[in-house]
Amino acid sequence: MTSRRVVTLAEFGRPDVMSVVSEELPVPMPGEVRVRHSAIGFNFIDIYQRKGIYPLPLPTGLGFEAAGVVDALGAGVTGIRTGDRVAYMNAGVGAYTDLRNVPADKLVALPDTVSDAAAATLLFKGMTAQYLLRKTHAVQANDLLLVHSAAGGVGQILTRWATALGATVVGTTGSPRKREAALAAGCVDVVDLNDPDWPQAFLAATGGRKARVVYDAVGKDTLIRSLDCAAPFGLVVCYGASSGKAPAVDPELLNKKGCLFLTRPSVFPHNADAATFRANAADLFDAIARGHVTVDIGGRFSLEEIVEAHRAAEERRIGGAILITP
Ligand SMILES: NC(=O)c1ccc[n+]([C@@H]2O[C@H](COP(=O)([O-])OP(=O)(O)OC[C@H]3O[C@@H](n4cnc5c(N)ncnc54)[C@H](OP(=O)(O)O)[C@@H]3O)[C@@H](O)[C@H]2O)c1
Repeated sequence: MTSRRVVTLAEFGRPDVMSVVSEELPVPMPGEVRVRHSAIGFNFIDIYQRKGIYPLPLPTGLGFEAAGVVDALGAGVTGIRTGDRVAYMNAGVGAYTDLRNVPADKLVALPDTVSDAAAATLLFKGMTAQYLLRKTHAVQANDLLLVHSAAGGVGQILTRWATALGATVVGTTGSPRKREAALAAGCVDVVDLNDPDWPQAFLAATGGRKARVVYDAVGKDTLIRSLDCAAPFGLVVCYGASSGKAPAVDPELLNKKGCLFLTRPSVFPHNADAATFRANAADLFDAIARGHVTVDIGGRFSLEEIVEAHRAAEERRIGGAILITP
């Protein structure tokens, strides 16, 4: 047994339902690896889970991703050694801690080109961008893309990477103060979602051309009007619900709006087995090494400041990623 500090919640609700407790961590089971975290990632899904929008059995930990050093090995683990630098993003909730046992097949070794802080802030969001621009649609040079929340965590990575592939990206943000971050990520123009006629503003920005793909993780507030921004036979990707769950869409509406395609994908099935996860991670690490994906850490919080970190994210005060240090 080794003692650790871990964020836990016994009920769903506001940020202050979370608290940090000390507890004993058992030795790693066969096939598991004990990882001493040096950096922990924050993702918007953590808020949905804290609120019970995506309910978890209680009491529960939170957090999907972290990076650190291998501290101990369970029986039967091969290919990983004590002292290796590793990261993960798909091992179930519970990353908000300084020490955790993780199944070995959920870990990826970190190359020297990727720091622990970069891995913990980029892996979940970067792997999301990876499947969105490789699998959901294979982004091509000259594609016109509309990326909502282009100054956000996934939004900035998606914009940078798609731009590096030669696509043209118009972004949206929820406040003019995030405009510069969206432009710095590569957007050719940025539409303010507070404009009641933002789809028209998008078309004005593109000279009337509609998008090959609309990437929409805002959901409730935007999805229906995102359909107006997609070109005939274009794709609308509803991959999140930052403003609330997206409304149901009548298939007939997709016909009327131009024989559109609509999908609701998730990062987890795209990385379900170890070989695919590590191949996708290698693609992300290559994009990082080439400078196509960079880290933008907008806020740093200790584990003890986790309540404040969630408040800042929910109040949309932070552009870029949030890093939590144990
Ligand atoms: N399906 C998947 O595989 C997958 C994987 C990872 C993340 N996601 C989703 O992708 C989205 C982005 O995740 P992230 O971690 O990178 O978060 P984020 O973009 O850094 O933060 C969410 C952003 O949503 C925007 N937003 C719009 N309406 C909002 C509202 N009513 N309340 C709060 N924020 C609102 C805000 O940007 P503005 O102020 O600029 O509008 C905010 O910065 C989330 O919906 C997340 O669940 C999906």
